[in-house]
Amino acid sequence: MENTFIMIKPDGVKRGLAGELISRIEKKGFKIVQAKLFQPDRTLVEEHYKEHKDKPFFDKLVNYILEGPVMAMEVEGEAAIEIMRKMIGDKDPKLAKPGTIRGDFANTMNKNVIHGSDSIESTNRELDLWF
Ligand code: TYD
Ligand code: MG
Repeated sequence: MENTFIMIKPDGVKRGLAGELISRIEKKGFKIVQAKLFQPDRTLVEEHYKEHKDKPFFDKLVNYILEGPVMAMEVEGEAAIEIMRKMIGDKDPKLAKPGTIRGDFANTMNKNVIHGSDSIESTNRELDLWF
């Protein structure tokens, strides 16, 4: 079994997509083992995205995540990290395939509905940070 950190971003929560997204995760056969809906603070969000600290989009990204509550989740299942990344789809809306979450629900990279950890190391780091 593998675990991954998934976050429904503020636009996903605001648009009422949380139920649909949780449903997709559960229908895939994955289990949500922890979840919390809450407003993160700047320190947490900056730490979460610290790999992007020097990128030109960093400030905009952090401010967007601070726009409202997020749904932070720990998701469990075989190969959950890789499969959830596939289900989430590409961050570039032009590349995100229909049927993926971003392909179906996002049309801009600036507000792309959901986050999923990209490795075992980032999963462990992010789960420690958020829970
Ligand atoms: P990244 O870790 O590259 O993507 P992913 O979310 O698929 O792991 O980037 C983190 C987030 O930063 C991404 O979801 C959207 C935002 N972002 C931008 O706003 N502009 C950009 O040019 C990039 C690369 C990312
Ligand atoms: Mg990433």
